[in-house]
Amino acid sequence: MSEENAYEPFIQDKVYDEKIAVYPGTFDPITMGHIDIVTRSLEIFDKVIITVAINPAKSALFSLEDRLQMIRDCFPADEERISVDYVDGLLVDYAYKRGATAIVRGLRAVSDFEYEFQLALMNRRIEREVETVFLMTGLRWIYISSSIIKDVARHGGDTSGLVPDHVCEKLRHKFMT
Ligand code: COA
Repeated sequence: MSEENAYEPFIQDKVYDEKIAVYPGTFDPITMGHIDIVTRSLEIFDKVIITVAINPAKSALFSLEDRLQMIRDCFPADEERISVDYVDGLLVDYAYKRGATAIVRGLRAVSDFEYEFQLALMNRRIEREVETVFLMTGLRWIYISSSIIKDVARHGGDTSGLVPDHVCEKLRHKFMT
């Protein structure tokens, strides 16, 4: 084998029919920032699996089923490139089993970087076949998080425009006195 094509078999092994990405998060609830990441991921990947991670360290406001349904309701039912699922185990194992080659994460600010760097490196250590891809969060959504939105809603503030209308309604209902 010549020097020039020494890596050819390796590269050929990496040819997949379709490029699938997993977009994980707590999504408690999904926000416009998350939707922006999904939409932009579809410019890069053929399919995106939005995956709600069950994280016992975070006590969620919404049940898993509510979170999954709110995500489903954000996208047209016939959009075959998006699917919605959950994971209750190691994310990277899940991604590998689903045939995904990447985990997508949104970066909002430098403060996100350290944690994301740690996650990405640990995931890579466990499974080298799955890469982490970071997208910069859209400037309009740089300051939002699910927690800050819940806090605004809890105190009767207006969250419209920051979350889809059906999520806004769910939040209003949740905090109705
Ligand atoms: N727009 C708006 N908000 C955004 C955002 C964006 N583009 N990107 C992130 N956020 C916010 C989220 O709303 C969330 O806000 P909150 O903390 O107020 O709820 C926050 O940023 C970070 O959260 P999220 O993306 O939901 O991730 P997480 O830190 O809750 O969970 C997982 C990270 C799911 C990737 C990680 O826990 C995991 O992999 N779990 C599976 C188990 C596992 O494999 N563990 C080993 C990991 S090495």
